Amino acid sequence: MEDKWLDPACAATDAEVSDTCEDPSRRRTVKLFACAALAAAAGVRPAWGADEDPPRVGDRLVREGDESKTPLTSADIKFEKKQLIVWPQDAKSSKLRDGSRLNRIVVIKLDPKQMDADTAKAAADGVVAYSAVCVHQNCDVNGWLAKEKEFLCICHFSKYSPLRKGAVTGGPAPRALPIIPLKIEDGKLAIAGDFSAPPGGAPQA
Ligand code: FES
Repeated sequence: MEDKWLDPACAATDAEVSDTCEDPSRRRTVKLFACAALAAAAGVRPAWGADEDPPRVGDRLVREGDESKTPLTSADIKFEKKQLIVWPQDAKSSKLRDGSRLNRIVVIKLDPKQMDADTAKAAADGVVAYSAVCVHQNCDVNGWLAKEKEFLCICHFSKYSPLRKGAVTGGPAPRALPIIPLKIEDGKLAIAGDFSAPPGGAPQA
């Protein structure tokens, strides 16, 4: 699969973030600059092309890298653990809709009692799903601040609350991270609607 807007080097930052952003190492700094440069080079607003295939209601969710393409259940998602990156999967054909980075989704399981009303409504058994593409400059939102219970994009340190419909809690992101509602269908996590807003970042200056 070919990424059309941003090199997966941004995704490579994944292992570099733990529970805090303090005391960044030189290695992290190097990766940070690489990611920012790649985002700037992209220069376009991500958008589904006519030949691409956005997530659809009923799609299952498959963990990125799972060659068995096994649809996830709620039990597969560990409570309050770092978000997983998943792809939507056609429930009938089992084909992954992985032709566009805009289809990348993160899922996390949290306490519904701590969610605001809209987020709780979009959750299924405590699992909430958001676009994995930062709305600042399109890096993967793959950092997790466990203490704050916030997503982190380490390209420029935007933070989002998965308990409050993806609200921005820090950094340069101009708007909330789009949420996509989930349901349980035949025991599997499944897409229940559209993204709350277009996924992906703004055009570069
Ligand atoms: S791409 Fe800049 S904060 Fe995410």
